Amino acid sequence: MLADMTQKRISVAPMIDWTTTDYRFFARLFNPHLYLYTEMISTSALIHGNTARLLRFDASERPLVLQLGGADPSEMAHCARLAQDYGFDEVNINVGCPSDRVQHNKIGACLMAEPDTVANLVQVMQAEVDIPVTVKHRIGIDDFDSYEFMRDFVDTVAEAGCRRFIVHARIAWLQGLSPIQNREIPPLRYEDVYRLKPDFPKLLIEINGGITTVDEVRTHLNHVDGVMLGRAGYQNPYVLAELNELWETPVPTRAEILAKLLPYLESQVENGEPLPSLARHYLGLFQGLPGARKWRQALSGKQHLTVDEIRQAGERTLGIIERMDTSN
Ligand SMILES: Cc1cc2nc3c(=O)[nH]c(=O)nc-3n(C[C@H](O)[C@H](O)[C@H](O)COP(=O)(O)O)c2cc1C
Repeated sequence: MLADMTQKRISVAPMIDWTTTDYRFFARLFNPHLYLYTEMISTSALIHGNTARLLRFDASERPLVLQLGGADPSEMAHCARLAQDYGFDEVNINVGCPSDRVQHNKIGACLMAEPDTVANLVQVMQAEVDIPVTVKHRIGIDDFDSYEFMRDFVDTVAEAGCRRFIVHARIAWLQGLSPIQNREIPPLRYEDVYRLKPDFPKLLIEINGGITTVDEVRTHLNHVDGVMLGRAGYQNPYVLAELNELWETPVPTRAEILAKLLPYLESQVENGEPLPSLARHYLGLFQGLPGARKWRQALSGKQHLTVDEIRQAGERTLGIIERMDTSN
């Protein structure tokens, strides 16, 4: 059965260093329906850093969610207000990141052990803004690994007014595993996320973790309200184009995507942005196709790069793909 996509949400996960405005502009070219997330931005960076630069985005990126890392209620409320004032559609609290750095500041996944703290954050933030305040979390941390622990966490946070929960279907082990290992080693437990839906039918439950194909997305949508793709949406972004099937909307070709990306790159160069550091976001455009390596080689490890060189690399790879198609 087809899911009613007016009730469902597909998103690309917040990913530090990856889901920058330059990636998100690109991601949007694949699919007009997706919710996009910023990288996690800490309250201290937003308050003491270059706020306007951290929060800049292209209008096409909307619907767009600002993910915040923080635990101080007044700072989080202030940053939620900034999110609303800058035009974000939603603000999300990071309760899933296991890195030592964030643990040290008592933000991220360690907050799962403090549901009242998270509930209080939701309450003060939601009192400050009209846009929804949502929470992204894990199914548990360390020895707090039972379904009941997560259910009680969700219950407490929902009481404070959070309606949407995005659940990375893995425990986070806060000692002994790096953030990268924490995205690989703890096993995925999709069933735990599914169980939240009948237990909290009025809440919106989204699932995340290890999802890479349209078929997998369809399967999850039979159980929950949304699916969030992380690494797959970055490393093989064309899957975002294929997801148009779910809405029965046209699937853009890679040539069309490239043609829209190039003028954006021109404008970024005019703004003084360094092309070599933007180009890393586009390496996955031809993932899995002949010529993909040539494309990656042309874009990576360069001190200097021009939009014309990117155009030529794209045309070369598109030519290789076309020749392969016609020779088959
Ligand atoms: C490079 C990278 C950076 C990440 N940064 C964040 C972050 O800023 N906030 C967050 O909640 N999760 C972060 N994550 C976790 C992802 O949002 C996602 O939960 C995780 O990758 C699992 O989804 P996937 O298997 O589809 O990649 C990051 C993941 C990666 C790969």
